[in-house]
Order: sequence, then C-alpha cells, then structure tokens
Amino acid sequence: MGFSGFEDKGGEALDFGWRLGRDWWGGGYGFEASAAALWVGRNTFGLKKIIAHSYPENTGSVRIMQKMGMSFLGDSAYNGQPLVVYGFPEEWPDGWRP
Ligand SMILES: CC(C)(COP(=O)(O)OP(=O)(O)OC[C@H]1O[C@@H](n2cnc3c(N)ncnc32)[C@H](O)[C@@H]1OP(=O)(O)O)[C@@H](O)C(=O)NCCC(=O)NCCS
Repeated sequence: MGFSGFEDKGGEALDFGWRLGRDWWGGGYGFEASAAALWVGRNTFGLKKIIAHSYPENTGSVRIMQKMGMSFLGDSAYNGQPLVVYGFPEEWPDGWRP
C-alpha cells in the first residue's frame, strides 16, 4: 500500500515521511500508518527530534502532521519549492533551524 517511516539523513533531526499508492488515498490509512510508526519509533526505539516536511499545499500530509500532535517549526525548500517543516517544539528549546 505504501510506507510511513523514518530516515536518518545525518543531521540533528530525524526525517519522518509517508507515501501511499493513489488507490489507497482518503481511507484514513495515511494517518493510521503514520501514527503507528510514530508510536513505535518513540516507544520502542526511543527516537527523538523527529521532523516532517511537506509542500504547504499538500493538505492531507500537513493534516496528518497536525493530527499526530506536530506543530509548525519553520520553512524550508527543496529544488526551489517551499516546504513547511513540522515537529515537536518541546524537542527544540532553542528553536529549529534547517
Ligand atoms: C498524503 C497522504 C499520505 C495522505 O494519506 P491518506 O490516507 O489519504 O490520508 P488520511 O485519509 O489518513 O487523512 C488524514 C487527514 O488529512 C485529510 N486529507 C487527506 N487528503 C486530503 C486532501 N487531498 N485534501 C484535504 N484534506 C485531506 C483527511 O480528511 C484527514 O483529516 P481529518 O481526519 O481531519 O478529516 C497520501 O495522499 C499520499 O500518499 N500522497 C502522495 C505522497 C505524499 O504527498 N506524501 C507526503 C510527502 S510530505
């Protein structure tokens, strides 16, 4: 159906992302899979400083972040396209920077 999980890109933050095949959109699976991955990541593996990126117009993806309790941390960009970055502000007491 797709994936939801974490990628260590070598920085301070751990990247959290998800993607479903189009046939599976709109059924609640994106949130269900991501919330489960977040729970396992934190409670089984002790992951911290988890962030997620999205194009701002990707309402479904941003909504998944919000429903998992993530908040807007700041702006970023990929190939000149603006991105929003969400995470858990309490993990960034000095503020998050790209
Ligand atoms: C983003 C993606 C994972 C969403 O998965 P999904 O299973 O369709 O999402 P869900 O059904 O779990 O919905 C989660 C929330 O987003 C909302 N939502 C989902 N798609 C939406 C859309 N196109 N427009 C507006 N809201 C949307 C849902 O209503 C739900 O919010 P609610 O509970 O308040 O009603 C899926 O569309 C996808 O894989 N897209 C392509 C890849 C991608 O964009 N990946 C993310 C890169 S950052």
